[in-house]
Amino acid sequence: MVAGGGSSPQRAARRTPWTPADVRDKPGPLTDSRFFEQSVVSPLRYPGAKRQLTPVIENMIRANVPPPRLFVEPFCGGATTALHMAGRGIVDHVILADADPLVAAFWYVAAFDTSWLIGAMHAEPVTLDRWDWWRLAEPRSRRDKAMKCLFLNRTTFSGILHGRAGPIGGRAQASPYKIDCRFGKAGLERRLKAVGDLAATGRILDVWNLDWRETFQRLMQEYAHLSLDELAVYLDPPYVEKAPYLYEWSFESDQHEALARELAQATNFRWLLSYDDNETIRTLYAHVPGVTRLSIPHRYTAAGSEKRSVRSELLVTNYPDLPPESRSQVI
Ligand SMILES: C[S@@+](CC[C@H](N)C(=O)[O-])C[C@H]1O[C@@H](n2cnc3c(N)ncnc32)[C@H](O)[C@@H]1O
Repeated sequence: MVAGGGSSPQRAARRTPWTPADVRDKPGPLTDSRFFEQSVVSPLRYPGAKRQLTPVIENMIRANVPPPRLFVEPFCGGATTALHMAGRGIVDHVILADADPLVAAFWYVAAFDTSWLIGAMHAEPVTLDRWDWWRLAEPRSRRDKAMKCLFLNRTTFSGILHGRAGPIGGRAQASPYKIDCRFGKAGLERRLKAVGDLAATGRILDVWNLDWRETFQRLMQEYAHLSLDELAVYLDPPYVEKAPYLYEWSFESDQHEALARELAQATNFRWLLSYDDNETIRTLYAHVPGVTRLSIPHRYTAAGSEKRSVRSELLVTNYPDLPPESRSQVI
């Protein structure tokens, strides 16, 4: 792992993914590790982003020693959890994957072509005309797909990339929140640079545009040299109820069942799975040997409301040891 080594925090950007053999090496020092102490590190806004669950996942990983060498997010979306784990050194390496070609292109370019994306972002006027243009655009190159993802994610209601969601501020732009209110370029540049730094130091090893099954297959082919405790997979699939509205690549109920079958048989990696707590998913994992289900309450503020409400996330895992504070949450 040459680019990540050495004591100088200034290093060349990494233009290509790392290889499976690099998973054995320690990553180099980050240019600005304090950046990852803040709670919002992702350049993408994501419906259902798992910021509140991330500390629970972190504690689960810390409770099981040694930590995994590789942490993989096959439904990465805004990649909140993987960025946190890699940026804070909870795990050495991460791989991001998503079936949505725009999302996967975004992470690939943000990681391995960071300067280009920062330049393109600064050159982009954040206007309603450009929103209409990007909405209709069918980019072929990875760079343009990445820019389409970033632009629409930061300017569309709830960060939704596909479907019928409109621009922030509406077509009339009459609201105090205009189309560019979530497009602070200086802040986005800092977040993009942090992603580039994770890749340059060998923390982000690779980014894959694959369906979750293909991600599993590729992991089993390329990372077969890792043992059970060296590989952890965190899965945050589209929600059972809301998914068809939020994501282009959403899940039907047979896919939730297929995922449950696959995970019930997984003997060569650790996994953690999160959902909005609901009876269908509770039942799917109810009698799987070696699997623990936890119901984790979290506070949130619903869009358009000032009131804080509480709802629960379901976390399912085959990790054997639970942190003490999670034991009362087992169902
Ligand atoms: C709930 S979001 C993930 C949010 C993410 N954990 C975060 O914190 O931002 C689900 C993601 O799964 C992706 N997805 C949907 N179907 C998929 C599939 N079959 N394989 C892989 N990814 C898929 C969607 O494109 C979306 O980005």
